[in-house]
Amino acid sequence: MILGLFYILDLFVYSSNPNKFLQKRQAIFGQNFAALGRIIVGDYNDVKECIQPPQKRSNYLGPASLMPRKFSKYFSLFLSDQGAGGSALHETLHNHLWADIVPSAVALIDSKETEFSQYLEDGVMIIQNGNEKKAMEEIFKITIRYMFHSFFGAPLTEKLLRDVFVLSQTNGLFSSFIAGGIKPFVYFTYCFQFSRSSKVERVIEFILESPLLADYVPGEANGNQNSEDYAAMLLDVVIIAAIGGTANLVLQVINAIPDDSEIDLNDDKDVMMAVLEAARRNSPVNIVNLVISEERNLVVNGKERIIPANSLLGACIGLASLDGSVFAAPDVYNHKRENLLKAVINFNHLGYSPEGAGTRQCPGRNISMKFASDVLKLSRTKKATL
Ligand code: HEM
Repeated sequence: MILGLFYILDLFVYSSNPNKFLQKRQAIFGQNFAALGRIIVGDYNDVKECIQPPQKRSNYLGPASLMPRKFSKYFSLFLSDQGAGGSALHETLHNHLWADIVPSAVALIDSKETEFSQYLEDGVMIIQNGNEKKAMEEIFKITIRYMFHSFFGAPLTEKLLRDVFVLSQTNGLFSSFIAGGIKPFVYFTYCFQFSRSSKVERVIEFILESPLLADYVPGEANGNQNSEDYAAMLLDVVIIAAIGGTANLVLQVINAIPDDSEIDLNDDKDVMMAVLEAARRNSPVNIVNLVISEERNLVVNGKERIIPANSLLGACIGLASLDGSVFAAPDVYNHKRENLLKAVINFNHLGYSPEGAGTRQCPGRNISMKFASDVLKLSRTKKATL
């Protein structure tokens, strides 16, 4: 009961300013510490050890614990790896996203360049001309338009755009997709979630009728899901992973890269490094949760401890990416830092290589990097002509 109260308190304080909350706790208790109902692992080497091997998972997201029935049972984020007590399903679905879905979305963007560039043109204009609130909202809206159109092959109507926008925000217990599934609030708010469920129904209908689903046949590559389960899985992928992570990434790209940093916009590698460094300084996806299958030793709150099997660890990419023993002057933006490509962990994988690898690496990495790089190029070009 008392622990539950601490968890709720932590959750509220974390939500108002995640980085401040985590950095303050780290300054008091050391690199790894107990908070948010889990052990937060902030030491870079410990985080590396958490994200590389096969993992046991459950319905945890960022600082929250989720009610499983409010989400798809096929969402790879919540499935354990085969090497950690899960089945082969995780790898199948992860590969399906990485090798089939995301490459087709990227191919669609390339084949409809004018339409997709227009999303960016319109969006960047509002972001640069709008006030802070309007700019934030527009970052979400261009991300939603771009991701839905590229994944499902058809543009969203304005009504559906508004639905997805509301679902993707985390501040409404009755209407937010994620907040509406967080324990313990879900027990109290369950009966009043018509706003959430009606929007979910409309978006699922759009997905089921989309060009992507037109030729859908259940098979080995997609985990033999029926169309309804498949659409529900894609809804989780897009709303939880694609929109939140990418909008946060774009926010960093727009707001946190100093105007005077020298980025060669004609050099794709330089642009990529700029985006990666922006992500490193303020991690778009902050906490990766895993349940350890065996007991292990870890320094927590400054003391070496034995952490029992089945404990929940929150590997904190955000804190680890600011570990001064790995990234010199971690708070300073420097996209030329020598170890950036080798040491970056923002996509849940050690290092960044064109091919990518690993069963838990973010399978949406390539499309979100493309989108953020194009936003960076366009916003800098527009600034230069103002
Ligand atoms: C189109 C955009 C994106 C899509 C479709 C996407 C999709 C996903 C999916 C499906 C997973 C679960 C993978 C698994 O465990 O099998 C995942 C994990 C992850 N993604 Fe992404 N993602 C996107 C953007 C981003 C961005 C912009 C970032 C950060 C820079 C990011 C960072 C991560 C991280 C850290 C994880 C691991 C989270 C965890 O295990 O708790 N993703 N992503």
